[in-house]
Amino acid sequence: EYIYKIHGIKYLEEKLKKKLEVLEVKIVPGDLAENPYVLVDMGMVAANAIESNIQDNSIIGITGGGTMVAVAKGITKPTKCNNITVVPARGGIGREVEKQANTITAEMARRLKCQYQLLHASDTLGQQALESVLKDPEIQKVTDIIKSVNLLVFGIGRADKMAERRELPKPVIDKLKGLKAVAEAFGYYFTREGEIVYNMQTIGISFKDFERISTVIGVAGGKNKAEAIVAVSKLKKSMILVTDEAAAVEILQKY
Ligand code: F6P
Repeated sequence: EYIYKIHGIKYLEEKLKKKLEVLEVKIVPGDLAENPYVLVDMGMVAANAIESNIQDNSIIGITGGGTMVAVAKGITKPTKCNNITVVPARGGIGREVEKQANTITAEMARRLKCQYQLLHASDTLGQQALESVLKDPEIQKVTDIIKSVNLLVFGIGRADKMAERRELPKPVIDKLKGLKAVAEAFGYYFTREGEIVYNMQTIGISFKDFERISTVIGVAGGKNKAEAIVAVSKLKKSMILVTDEAAAVEILQKY
């Protein structure tokens, strides 16, 4: 039975925050796997968290995925802050244009009425191609801005699902399984304890950058992402988590 029905959502937020040992937890009622409006709500809550955490001159880094599409759509008012820039946190031109970080960056900036920069570099470049792309002055301009991101908003995925979505080669998939990867975020794959087991060779923020960034907001919901959320919460104590009730209850009961 859903705990919040008895104690309220605030109670659930407090409990989850203690359990995960993160800075802040925001929970929207319901299960996004069953009710699409829950994702809409989660997007709005994340959008509010963005507005309350930016300051003048903030550089917002964002990742791709369906959850982040909802976060962009959750922004309904221009920002009150000045000189805000949105950039994709990692390179990556996947199959679905709507879910790419570049597309979400542009949409977010349009809604916030702020500046943005795009990154024109594919996720699937080989090492050599990647090295020459990195020397391109236009790309360098953007990678410099990415290195100065001070607010990161990112989606969290299951390692198995993300490996599948990215069509990683079989040996890599086997490696991920063998090393017990359960979570994926900003190109890195993690175990439940938050140990890195693999990362995509792409342009953009590195794990070191992630550790340095002052404010990070992770957004993910649905019961099936519970373990991935647990893993990613281990990465940074100052993290703000936006999730749904289904994931929250699953984490409290199972982990
Ligand atoms: O591919 C970008 C990304 O943000 C991943 O880092 C993350 O695992 C995934 O998308 C989440 O996707 P979704 O919100 O569609 O579940």
